[in-house]
Amino acid sequence: MRILSGIQPSGTLHIGNYFGMMKPAIELQEKGEALYFIADLHALTTVHNAKDLSQNIRDVAVDFLACGLDPKKACLFQQSHIIGVTELSWILSTIAPMGLIERCHSYKDKLAKGLTATHGLFSYPVLMAADILIYDSDVVPVGRDQKQHIEVARDLVIKFNEAYGETLKLPEPSIREDTAVVPGLDGEKMSKSYHNTVGIFETESALKKKIMSLKTDSTPVESPKPIEGSTILALYKLVASPSDYEAMQNDFLAGGCGYGDFKKRLLAGVWEFFAPMRARREEILADPGYVDQVLREGKEKASGIADQVMARVRSAVGL
Ligand code: ADP
Ligand code: TRP
Repeated sequence: MRILSGIQPSGTLHIGNYFGMMKPAIELQEKGEALYFIADLHALTTVHNAKDLSQNIRDVAVDFLACGLDPKKACLFQQSHIIGVTELSWILSTIAPMGLIERCHSYKDKLAKGLTATHGLFSYPVLMAADILIYDSDVVPVGRDQKQHIEVARDLVIKFNEAYGETLKLPEPSIREDTAVVPGLDGEKMSKSYHNTVGIFETESALKKKIMSLKTDSTPVESPKPIEGSTILALYKLVASPSDYEAMQNDFLAGGCGYGDFKKRLLAGVWEFFAPMRARREEILADPGYVDQVLREGKEKASGIADQVMARVRSAVGL
């Protein structure tokens, strides 16, 4: 089984990225041949500063490794280092129906957030399909917001194979329902564009400031607190042991404990959960050559697979 996923280097990684995509991807590295890439060409749709982009690429590599990506089991590489990706994206764009791409909600969402309408932003799902299909991927672990893009990739496989004969492999999404949408500090989906994130590698004081600012209702200290839809509980569930989570849930129901106390418990839970990752990150940062080597080896392995698929695609279309 070949597992593939990508993450954009478009800002600091947050715990929504971790639980929605990185953790499932890291767990899957035990179950098959895993390929994970830094989607730098995708990030160009939103990051237009060279220094920022190259720093972000580096940060994502370091953070993904710190969180447990094991280069002996999974390969890590940069999207732009695989030459065939943009070529396959073009070839797929020549069979991608306008209507299919127009239906994608991520483009409309991004315009609604104030991004400038560009061709790259619009055709993003086609590039993403190329990312997936160029490695004959079987399984693609992502958060729920990316499901539609995997469906586009599947539609394009069917169209391509109908036009040119069996060439591309049909991928399956893998979406963990328990962590499909991690809420942010305001209770909405955690997302860097909503400025409601909790970073994986925040300093303790920044983390404290953020968690203490988490939005809650105005239930008095002595009253029972609603557990349904509670952001504190939803986040605590991700980082706490089942018994600690149950204890907090019981304290919510019992009343007598204020939101400030629950936030302190959440803060301690988040800080502890990511302690081993922080330690590993320090080690990685102390050895910059290590990241370069991982990315170089990742590029070699991924290119080997992509070259074979592209030979098949070129021959199928007559190039
Ligand atoms: P953002 O919304 O912050 O820009 P991205 O779109 O770059 O995040 O998402 C990168 C990966 O992390 C995707 O696979 C996405 O599904 C996942 N992800 C992002 N935010 C969340 C969230 N709040 N809950 C679960 N998964 C998420
Ligand atoms: N679009 C994904 C995101 O914003 C990143 C991505 C690009 C990706 N290409 C991919 C994810 C291919 C999985 C497979 O999060």
